[in-house]
Amino acid sequence: MLPQLQLPVLTTPAEIQAFKAMHPQQTVALVPTMGNLHEGHKSLIRLAKQRADVVIVSIFVNPTQFAPTEDFSQYPRTWEADLLACKSAGASAVLAPNPEALYPMGTPLDHRFSVVPPKKLTHQLCGLNRPTHFEGVATVVLKLFNWVQPNIAVFGEKDAQQLAILRWMVNDFGLPIELIGHPIVRQPDGLALSSRNQYLTTPEAKALALGLSTLLMGVQRFVQQAFTENPTAVISVEKTFQQKWESIAPQLPSSPTISWDYWQAVHRESFDPQAYFSPESLLLVAGKVGDVVRLIDNLALYPPNPNESVVNCS
Ligand code: PAF
Repeated sequence: MLPQLQLPVLTTPAEIQAFKAMHPQQTVALVPTMGNLHEGHKSLIRLAKQRADVVIVSIFVNPTQFAPTEDFSQYPRTWEADLLACKSAGASAVLAPNPEALYPMGTPLDHRFSVVPPKKLTHQLCGLNRPTHFEGVATVVLKLFNWVQPNIAVFGEKDAQQLAILRWMVNDFGLPIELIGHPIVRQPDGLALSSRNQYLTTPEAKALALGLSTLLMGVQRFVQQAFTENPTAVISVEKTFQQKWESIAPQLPSSPTISWDYWQAVHRESFDPQAYFSPESLLLVAGKVGDVVRLIDNLALYPPNPNESVVNCS
């Protein structure tokens, strides 16, 4: 059989059903994205392909997860390149939802239903500065799940809080979908891949961005060492991050600077904030490089993830 040259692009539930009818008895994976795909997204698609027969990648810049102060219209839209990325990573189809069909009642909150995640998950970390963000994410993901009815869905672990909230939603609503987290994909120097890395335009900004992963890895090493010496050691999260950052900062460019949104440890499953480290800690950081590029990163304390993949994308 000749390879298919173009990926089917589906826009409505009826088109999805017709596409699925052409693949009877096959398992379906959904990879939800907002486009502007990079190597990290391609790894999600490849993992989905290993775990299911058919992979549908959704590309939709979801308006309800942007606050009025955030520029939804400026979000990068790179449709042609995204199609190529999906194709080369092994997707079977792309879902580009018709916005009117996905939000038939419109997007204003006084007209539509919304999925409100538990406050304990949203009122911390990235949710503090973006109070309605995760509500928009959960709502659109539930809609996409309803449309596609996949067996599995793959999300990146870089957005750890998002993944925790979506896992909670799947459990709480009893959705028959297996959520799979893909380990963070990093450059060889440690920087986590992100669409936003493209805005790190100067060598100083690039070097400074590395401060996030360097800090996480430094804290991880320090706490692991302390626990090896004394498994019952009581290690303050705030003090450790502060001290590690003070030892790293002098080696980084001093301009621009990083303004930290947070450095924090949470229990990796419950997402309960931790004042002291435990073997179940997940370490998370978010900061703005030069007040423009906001980056996030995270690292589990144990086990250091052996599957964390490294790509060379310089
Ligand atoms: O992680 C993202 O790209 C988005 O938040 C998602 C899950 C596709 C929902 O719009």
